[in-house]
Amino acid sequence: MLVTGGAGYIGSHTTRQLIDAGYELTVVDTLYSGHRWAIPEKVDFHQLDAGDVDGMARLLEKGQIEAVIHFAGHIVVPESVRNPAKYYRNNVIASMNLIGACRQSGVGLFVFSSSAAVYGNPEKVPVSEEMTTLPINPYGRTKLITEWNLRDVAASSQSSAGGAFRYIALRYFNVAGARFDGTLGQATPEATHLIKVACETALGKRDSLAIFGTDYDTPDGTCIRDYIHVEDLATAHLDALQYLADGGSSETLNCGYGRGYSVREVLATVRSVSGVDFPIIETARRPGDAPQLIADNRRILEVLGWLPQHDELKEICRTAWKWERRYQDHSPAAPVQSTELG
Ligand SMILES: NC(=O)c1ccc[n+]([C@@H]2O[C@H](COP(=O)([O-])OP(=O)(O)OC[C@H]3O[C@@H](n4cnc5c(N)ncnc54)[C@H](O)[C@@H]3O)[C@@H](O)[C@H]2O)c1
Repeated sequence: MLVTGGAGYIGSHTTRQLIDAGYELTVVDTLYSGHRWAIPEKVDFHQLDAGDVDGMARLLEKGQIEAVIHFAGHIVVPESVRNPAKYYRNNVIASMNLIGACRQSGVGLFVFSSSAAVYGNPEKVPVSEEMTTLPINPYGRTKLITEWNLRDVAASSQSSAGGAFRYIALRYFNVAGARFDGTLGQATPEATHLIKVACETALGKRDSLAIFGTDYDTPDGTCIRDYIHVEDLATAHLDALQYLADGGSSETLNCGYGRGYSVREVLATVRSVSGVDFPIIETARRPGDAPQLIADNRRILEVLGWLPQHDELKEICRTAWKWERRYQDHSPAAPVQSTELG
């Protein structure tokens, strides 16, 4: 198994679950936004760009790799608007190179981190996989292009000598939370995720938190999102691998719980679990925010047999808060020693 972006937030949680399940792993990460301490020392780690064709080909051929999980990418939506080329290079071209290296090396199973951002502003919720994909920012477009690339490569592989290539693209909704023992959580620099930012504000790392828009056509006027616990999301990757290994066909699947919470509900929950009444400022809408994004998750439940276990906002916020406090208590250069991470 090879994991790209395994030192990042979702990649590190999945790496832990893969190790616990007995997989032998190679992890590749540039450490651009990930951390070496997030990967246990015993893991075969390479500080390498997933789009480095020669480097990846060497690893894939040497390591008798059967499957790749591709988390690596840039993820900050506003930055993708300011600097689209950076996103097209890292999310599209690097992914294309990696998929090409897999084909060359005969690696036929691939799991890809896609995003609900491919839907843009959906005309209705919950959003199902068949609904129109019309991303409204470069980040979402880079994810959709890679989905198309995977689909075309998988289709062409059926009639090529290079062996079959099958994939699962998981369209994550809003990922949040942390490992229950508090040893792993989101440490992505400049994270823009609501629960992460709320926890940072509760800790005093930020002066206040802004709500962008309170006049949406939702019950309390703020945007509604489908928050999924990172540990459930990690499990979906293990399920996807098992499904592909059992001969399952390529699929694109929503990964969310199928219910949403408003910004106000989330902030009230973070205030309650942290016990801190941190300052909240109400400001104007941001361009490009859909009023509601909720997954229709029937397909992933049916196809992968995925069994989410942590579908509770309070639990998501409690684990995020526990992690944030622990992260704060360690030096920024080495927030949690890898020995502590097991
Ligand atoms: N966090 C979310 O809410 C969310 C939602 C939808 C989709 N996703 C997708 O999930 C994936 C993981 O996101 P995350 O939240 O863990 O972000 P993250 O920034 O914490 O992790 C990304 C990791 O990839 C590494 N990386 C980036 N480019 C690389 C490259 N070319 N080669 C090797 N390593 C590289 C980074 O150093 C980092 O460790 C991304 O592809 C992201 O687009 C995340």
